Amino acid sequence: MPQQQTALITGASVGIGHELARQFAQGGYNLILVARNEDKLRAVAEEMRTLGVQADYILADLAQPAAPLALFADLKNRSQTIDVLVNNAGFGALGDFHQLDPQRQLDMIQVNVTAVVELTHLFLQGMVARNIGGILNVASTAAFLPGPHMAIYYASKAFVLSFSEAIAEELRGTNIKVTALCPGPTESEFRTRAKMDDSPVFRSKWIPTMTAAQVAQAGYQAFKKGKRIIIPGMVNKLAVQSNRIAPRRAVTKVAGKINRSK
Ligand SMILES: NC(=O)c1ccc[n+]([C@@H]2O[C@H](COP(=O)([O-])OP(=O)(O)OC[C@H]3O[C@@H](n4cnc5c(N)ncnc54)[C@H](OP(=O)(O)O)[C@@H]3O)[C@@H](O)[C@H]2O)c1
Repeated sequence: MPQQQTALITGASVGIGHELARQFAQGGYNLILVARNEDKLRAVAEEMRTLGVQADYILADLAQPAAPLALFADLKNRSQTIDVLVNNAGFGALGDFHQLDPQRQLDMIQVNVTAVVELTHLFLQGMVARNIGGILNVASTAAFLPGPHMAIYYASKAFVLSFSEAIAEELRGTNIKVTALCPGPTESEFRTRAKMDDSPVFRSKWIPTMTAAQVAQAGYQAFKKGKRIIIPGMVNKLAVQSNRIAPRRAVTKVAGKINRSK
């Protein structure tokens, strides 16, 4: 890798994003860290500097439609080139679609989908012009099936996976890599924020919960190798494969039971 490449990581204040920051820092990338919690972002930036790279942070609420363009403009004003974009920020919400707060569902689409699309479009222009760069989008094993009791979350991750694979193909033959990281259940703040502490997803003995560090390491290594999709963990890989061959209706029913026990 040429020296002094810079990776922008959204949702870098905690969880998988924090661990991705560590992976990219250990790989020699300077970092721009993005999220809403300033105390946590500052602490992550300080930690990353101890690894010998430059690390700065920018506060942004990606649920605000103006946030991606404001972030891009801020970096442009600083003449800061972004070589790698990591779209990691995201959240879920457990509950039936018709009962959940509609604004929170729309915010989820804004953060998990619309901001990903807009940031990718903005930063990809420079990557294409330089014919070098990369995009690492954090999807989920939820991307491969419908998710009753988390309908919008699963659909948002299906979008991220499909979008990532499609643009990876469009960029075939260039020096721009696009990878979709598809974790299964992972230790982070996600489950509590999504009100999933009692969900069977995080309690099943059949689906081991991975650490955010394991997931980030798998994602970073796959990205560096130019893989289009990475599903960390053998059980998660097998689950995704079995979803592909089982009847869609049966898969949907099982997903609903795994998300929420009645
Ligand atoms: N944990 C899992 O089981 C799991 C499984 C598959 C996929 N994923 C995906 O992995 C990604 C990271 O999640 P995680 O597990 O690390 O969850 P997490 O610990 O809750 O971290 C989520 C990150 O996203 C940021 N974020 C959330 N809303 C934001 C907003 N409106 N504007 C800016 N940043 C926002 C948060 O930062 P602030 O709160 O500081 O803004 C935080 O840094 C997400 O896309 C998630 O869907 C998670």
